Amino acid sequence: MAGKLIQLARLAGPSHVDMSVSVGGVQLKSPVMTASGTSGYGVELAGYIDLEKLGAVVAKSMAVFDWPGNPAPRVCSAPASMINSVGLQGKGISWWLSNQLPKLVERRCTVVASIWGRTLGEFEQAARLLASAYGISAIELNVSCPNIEDRNHMFAHSATATADVVRASLSGGLPIWVKLSANTPDLIDIAGHAIDAGADGIVLINTLLGMAIDIDKRRYALGSGPMGGGVSGPAIRPVALRAVHDVRKTFPEVGLIGVGGISRGKHAVEMMMAGASAIQIGTATILDPRAPMRVHKELLSWCKMHGVARVGDISGCLLKEDNSTEYDSEPISAEEIGQ
Ligand SMILES: Cc1cc2nc3c(=O)[nH]c(=O)nc-3n(C[C@H](O)[C@H](O)[C@H](O)COP(=O)(O)O)c2cc1C
Repeated sequence: MAGKLIQLARLAGPSHVDMSVSVGGVQLKSPVMTASGTSGYGVELAGYIDLEKLGAVVAKSMAVFDWPGNPAPRVCSAPASMINSVGLQGKGISWWLSNQLPKLVERRCTVVASIWGRTLGEFEQAARLLASAYGISAIELNVSCPNIEDRNHMFAHSATATADVVRASLSGGLPIWVKLSANTPDLIDIAGHAIDAGADGIVLINTLLGMAIDIDKRRYALGSGPMGGGVSGPAIRPVALRAVHDVRKTFPEVGLIGVGGISRGKHAVEMMMAGASAIQIGTATILDPRAPMRVHKELLSWCKMHGVARVGDISGCLLKEDNSTEYDSEPISAEEIGQ
């Protein structure tokens, strides 16, 4: 009898789902955020969705200086994905603090600023500048940029350089999230160094290194030429999922944010089951500015349908439960692979 009642309650679903989560030193109203660089400085989406309802608006990465970015063309399509070579173009942090942050604060958004730099000193200056402003909940470190003090090697591909950036940015006093690259076999080591250096949260993943060629013109498809660009969208979702899963498995306590190819509520569920406490929506927002709110609503519906009263309970459930299931092996067709 009791079992039947529980089953019925499950079918009816909880009337209220607690969508709030705590991640990387920040309390969020929803686990769904925007991803840096895919919706401008954040306020651009305000005409489409109620930004206040999102977990957070993560602004485009900024430096302490103006930066022209790469020459056009800066985007092209690729199978189940896009490639961009925007190259971190932007007007700099001081401009953002005076012209954009107040608009986000006025709309009562939870704001996460994203910074980049070419040296540790530039990261430190950026973090200090942001810490003196009102209305920023955390700083996300975009370490997928060249370190000019180390032969232009990407910070994100070195455990020690990543840890140094985290330490340099802590001086501002805000919670620090570090966004890592999956283009390295050392992801676990790099995440471990970032956590030991004091990172409050790990964001996985930035775009994957890619390239496209215009065969008719016999030249690179993007203006960045031999530098290529970053691949994003549905094609990278399995890579992001694996990165989140592996980091969660090694560091069960770290605040983990999943990003890569999420466009539906069920993708968010999948990423959270793999270990993310929260997620970000990137390329899907470029295709449809309402995507982050759609994912929020679909995630809420999924929780109701599956009797989940607190969305945070999904997080990492795959790693907590017994998954020694025997699988039926189904052949996959060429259409499914998308040839
Ligand atoms: C056009 C474009 C610009 C981006 N700019 C930034 C950026 O400024 N800083 C950053 O950390 N990531 C940037 N990203 C990476 C995204 O935030 C995200 O990590 C990546 O695209 C994977 O998520 P997605 O598949 O949902 O887009 C950018 C991605 C795109 C497509």
